[in-house]
Amino acid sequence: MAARGGFNSRIGFILAAAGSAVGLGNIWKFPFEVGAGGGAAFLVIYLFFAFTLCFPVMAAEIAIGRRTQSSPVSAFKKLGFPRWSGIGYLGLISGLLILSFYNIVAAWAFGYFFEMLRGHFEIAKHFSDYTADWLKIGSYALIFMLGTAFIVSRGVAHGIERAAKMMMPLLLLLVLGLIIYSLTLPNANVGIKYYLLPDFSKVTGAVVYGALGQAFFSLSLGMGALITFGSYVTKQTNVISSAAIITLTDVSIAFLAGLMMFPLVAYVTNGDLGAMADISGEEAFIFETLPTVFESLGPNLGLVIGSIFFLLLSFAALTSTISLLEVPTAFLVDEKKIPRGKATWGVALFIFVIGIPSLLGAGASQFFTQFIQMPEMESPISFMKFVGLIGGSTFLSIGGFLISIFTAYVWKKSNFRQEIEAENESALIRFLRGYVDFAIGIICPIVLGVITVVTILTNYLGVSFS
Ligand code: TRP
Repeated sequence: MAARGGFNSRIGFILAAAGSAVGLGNIWKFPFEVGAGGGAAFLVIYLFFAFTLCFPVMAAEIAIGRRTQSSPVSAFKKLGFPRWSGIGYLGLISGLLILSFYNIVAAWAFGYFFEMLRGHFEIAKHFSDYTADWLKIGSYALIFMLGTAFIVSRGVAHGIERAAKMMMPLLLLLVLGLIIYSLTLPNANVGIKYYLLPDFSKVTGAVVYGALGQAFFSLSLGMGALITFGSYVTKQTNVISSAAIITLTDVSIAFLAGLMMFPLVAYVTNGDLGAMADISGEEAFIFETLPTVFESLGPNLGLVIGSIFFLLLSFAALTSTISLLEVPTAFLVDEKKIPRGKATWGVALFIFVIGIPSLLGAGASQFFTQFIQMPEMESPISFMKFVGLIGGSTFLSIGGFLISIFTAYVWKKSNFRQEIEAENESALIRFLRGYVDFAIGIICPIVLGVITVVTILTNYLGVSFS
């Protein structure tokens, strides 16, 4: 087993897993989903799902990895259920698809870091020209992918763990710094109120659905990323407390990202609530609005705050792309006995290539930008959105559903229990373990099953529920 490598410390594992969870999902997607979903109401529902539904699935993934010391495909075989390794293959495909477009968004953020450093705030007004510049974005994307591959190729302890130990504390520091700063801006209190006082009248089925999808994606669940990371820990690592800490860290950073963002929104809109709802619900919010905020801070301060923000975003994205690349890499190492170095660079280049349509679908090519008309959507969606819908949403809910069914009814509760039980449990851990034990066989499969069916019916078959 020595050849597979493993984490050197429990904190290293937790930081790497939290690094996987904390990503563009938290800082780019979460705030605009809050904006579009009625402020704090979305936040409350999101937190509810993260703890009641996602946390048990996370514990199941880590337990499967820890027990088998294998990446997903091999893990199901090792437990004696080779037919269930289909979950592993599905996860593998999800990972390739997610990373192929995620890397492009990461490249936008990484590129903005350099734009801010040079004081190019007006880039915000030309965001669509910026994303359409395939050569420039493609170069940033290539650099980002190669950086990711470099870290992953160095192995679990020397690459992934070390990178997480450096980047995660820095990330937290940068977020806290920006929060303190944004709280000093005029109208900060209006932004905070909008963010923290729930307006449940805005809650629709779509908002609930969005909150669940966001929680699941944000916690990196449903594709075996945590089975893979769990396979690098020892029996001393407590599954329940680790899953709890990772969940808590991820939702805390998402929460903090909101605290940092909404005062900025209130500042640019002069505290106008209607305008706040409009701009904060926009997908391009951080790319189109934030730079104008930075600009209004004056050339020097704006440059500092703006580049820190996009540096932070790039770090968050990097710890996530690392985990996404690790899944197919571990598959090749475990199943195909390919040396880690070769496996990593090979997969990275392959994913870069399948990401090219996503790169071109942000304005450069009409064909990929208006790629497909899905039922129930007003206009054709881009290739990137299409891949996101399949890999980042549909496949993850199917994966999560199957993982819960597998854990509770195929692998069986008694085996799962053995893996999550530990000596000297505190009362809190015992309580959480009891909850996980109960939820994984009932709440998780039911909710994830329903979500999967709804996803397929609405997005692919055009059935409308409203
Ligand atoms: N959770 C990350 C984010 O919020 C993205 C991510 C990384 C992911 N690894 C994953 C999502 C595995 C699903 C599965 O940005």
